[in-house]
Amino acid sequence: MMTDDSNPTLPSLRTLPLPKRRDEVARLAGLAREEIERALATGGLDCDTADAMVENALGTLALPFGVAPGVRVNGVDYLVPMAIEEPSVVAAASHASKRVRSAGGFKATVDPSMMVAQIEVHDVADPAGALLRIEEAQTELVRRANEAVQGLVARGGGAKRVSTRDLGDGMIVTHVHVDCRDAMGANLLNTVAEALGARVAELAGGTLGLRILSNYCDERITRVTASLPVDALGDSRTKGIDAARGIARASLFAERDPYRAVTHNKGIMNGVDAVVLATGNDWRAVEAGAHAHASRSGAYRPLATWRLSDDERSLEGQIEIPLALGVVGGALRAHPGARLALALLRVTSAAELAAVAAATGLATNLAALRALSTEGIQRGHMALHHRATAAKLPR
Ligand code: COA
Repeated sequence: MMTDDSNPTLPSLRTLPLPKRRDEVARLAGLAREEIERALATGGLDCDTADAMVENALGTLALPFGVAPGVRVNGVDYLVPMAIEEPSVVAAASHASKRVRSAGGFKATVDPSMMVAQIEVHDVADPAGALLRIEEAQTELVRRANEAVQGLVARGGGAKRVSTRDLGDGMIVTHVHVDCRDAMGANLLNTVAEALGARVAELAGGTLGLRILSNYCDERITRVTASLPVDALGDSRTKGIDAARGIARASLFAERDPYRAVTHNKGIMNGVDAVVLATGNDWRAVEAGAHAHASRSGAYRPLATWRLSDDERSLEGQIEIPLALGVVGGALRAHPGARLALALLRVTSAAELAAVAAATGLATNLAALRALSTEGIQRGHMALHHRATAAKLPR
């Protein structure tokens, strides 16, 4: 994190050779260069730790770990760590963030960290009566849930309420809504589901089935907006108004066509996943939830949209995405590379991390749409792709 006052101009990291880039990033993040070197040695993870993390480990698989500087969210500039194999994504995030920063930066709001634990019960003879009995036992169920996660309750989180649905043919599901604060929440939610399962089945008068969290966290939504004067989108090759019109038209294309919406959302997830991966979070959970959210109307839609203002002076973008991210627990405890990523970001909560990840996704979306709707994707992308293949990489 860098504050506006301490860093009015952004460093151009790309012009520096890698060792000097580490020096510069260490200086900006207030870390010793050795901390960066130590954390990223052997790809951020040593073999013994990998062996303890997964089964049948043979070693580790490294990815490039880059940094997009100056991603300004709610007035704070972040050094955003990105783990990704694809050329031009870190450049795209930096490029668009620089333009958005010149217009004041991204604005983010993040819901509380509410997740859902699901308890499924089948062979229920009287589903309507079962739902009623479970809802009437709400206070008892919330109390039992909180007894199972006392540490979370001590940190201000815990189960808040219970809801139920009839799924038909004698199958019902109970949702326990849990605020998991700064954790991603999977283990906490599974603990709650298992602690309550038998009692819920007893109340329902049916057979206990699955007890597990839902990865669709639709009460844990992150929203980010960006507003840019059209001039901020121009360059020597393209007028700002032409770029802005092109981006707004590209948004409409994605809103009308699922084939395009998938690729549009892939460009968003380029940024989101790179941050999620660098910070040791569960990107499969984020992916599954994001695409469920994109489909919530019954058709697959873009997660981010762009509009020109009526007077055509500014371009307004917004993204809405469910993000279950943690800054405690999970792989973070074990993974030095992920801990470095959080140290570079200097985020203090899961909500702050979600705001930065979503803003980075909106940035990669903006950069891709701007390139696509003006000169085409190939010049910027392929220049960096060729740079990779022209380097010492085997063919
Ligand atoms: N490395 C890091 N940052 C880079 C960069 C590079 N090689 N090239 C551009 N940038 C970023 C920097 O923030 C730069 O500011 P700086 O000079 O102060 O560091 C800013 O972009 C503007 O640089 P510029 O040289 O004017 O960029 P450009 O207009 O030639 O744009 C791309 C190059 C690649 C950023 C742009 O074409 C783009 O965003 N393309 C879309 C890429 C994409 O979506 N890829 C994923 C799917 S294919």
